[in-house]
Amino acid sequence: MPVSATLAVNEAIRAKRESGKYVLPLGFGEAGLPVHRSLTDRLSRYAGRNGYGSVAGVPQLREAAAGYWSRRDLRTEPSQVIAGPGSKPLLYAALMAVGGDVVLPQPSWVSYGAQVEMLGATPLYVPTIPGDGGVPDPQRLKDYLDHARTIGRDVRAMVMTLPDNPTGTLAAPEIIHRACDIAREYDLVIIADEIYRDLVFDAGRAYVSPADIAPERTIITTGLSKSLALGGWRIGVARVPDSALGDELRERMLTIASEIWSSPSAPVQHAAAYAYTEPAELRDHIADSRRLHATVARAVAGHFGAAGAEVAVPDGGFYLYPDLAPYRSHLEAKWSVKTGADLSELLLDRYAVGVLPGSAFGDGIKELKLRVATSQLYGQTDAQREAALRSAYPLMLPWIAKALDRLDEVLKDLTR
Ligand SMILES: Cc1ncc(COP(=O)(O)O)c(C=O)c1O
Repeated sequence: MPVSATLAVNEAIRAKRESGKYVLPLGFGEAGLPVHRSLTDRLSRYAGRNGYGSVAGVPQLREAAAGYWSRRDLRTEPSQVIAGPGSKPLLYAALMAVGGDVVLPQPSWVSYGAQVEMLGATPLYVPTIPGDGGVPDPQRLKDYLDHARTIGRDVRAMVMTLPDNPTGTLAAPEIIHRACDIAREYDLVIIADEIYRDLVFDAGRAYVSPADIAPERTIITTGLSKSLALGGWRIGVARVPDSALGDELRERMLTIASEIWSSPSAPVQHAAAYAYTEPAELRDHIADSRRLHATVARAVAGHFGAAGAEVAVPDGGFYLYPDLAPYRSHLEAKWSVKTGADLSELLLDRYAVGVLPGSAFGDGIKELKLRVATSQLYGQTDAQREAALRSAYPLMLPWIAKALDRLDEVLKDLTR
């Protein structure tokens, strides 16, 4: 199994930049913003905490995370919370605890499929509806499940990503409802990856979690890597259901956690506990980053749309998923591009633009879809990123304007 595609494109772009090329880093989904002072203060204050601590996480963090969900109308006891070194290992533990094959949205985040395969199981990709990413299309879900059962597959879980990476879209409530009803009918555990929940651009938009609809069978995973840009701190939390099934899953996840990571980093947990109390200073910081993500992701989507690509307007996070299918014959005739991988290679080699092909997200190799991550456009230094975060007009900052101009140039040359 190769190294995660997102990390690989990041390395390739770094090498191009080091060789002096002007690059457009649109491959790696890192939040790309500085850490809030209150969190670095807490981290250093707790640096002396060197004990392992409990497997599920320190009580302060579990209480704070329970409060975070309870404020979102999901009543949560601290005993339902498991903290881990990022949501990625928590997802792995959840998939392992449930066992069996797993329904994944097609397309979906690279690591779900890889993790399912590492567990010796098989992903069952079910296409999503364009514009409603992250949720298997309920119209097709039953047929896929029936077929999987007919051929003897033991499907026990389904992942939903709300809002979604790679498409940047948030599925409509009725689609989530219907997918949850089917999960109940087929007795599937739902794993709701809500790591981008606090980055839905329209903060007034109603958010529906699968845990609102099917609370007895939904595990939620989330973390601070995106909303507070703490990816490198490695901290995430999972919420298991308040049900007999939830108790069983919790025990299994804790066994797995105890054998793999023992406990998350203690100082980081204390900083995260503060973050999950959602003080005003961090709420404001997240609101600023949400505004910046929205402005830049929508602008980049606008550039792809203007160039003739099919692209859904992003609803949250910092991604978009344009489809260059309208240029299929042109791209093949002029550039010998036949697959998404050909297209992303051309973009990297000829233009130093790092993006990922849809095939990295479970889409067909012939699709000319690209996952474009916009958050590394905010700047290369903390000063630039801070300026982007504080700016009322980030698109007018010279380094962001230059990147968007370059994107236009590349798209024009590519499609001319
Ligand atoms: C959909 C999705 N889930 C989970 C993660 C992993 O986050 P963490 O840093 O909490 O492991 C990412 C990060 O790229 C993501 O895009």
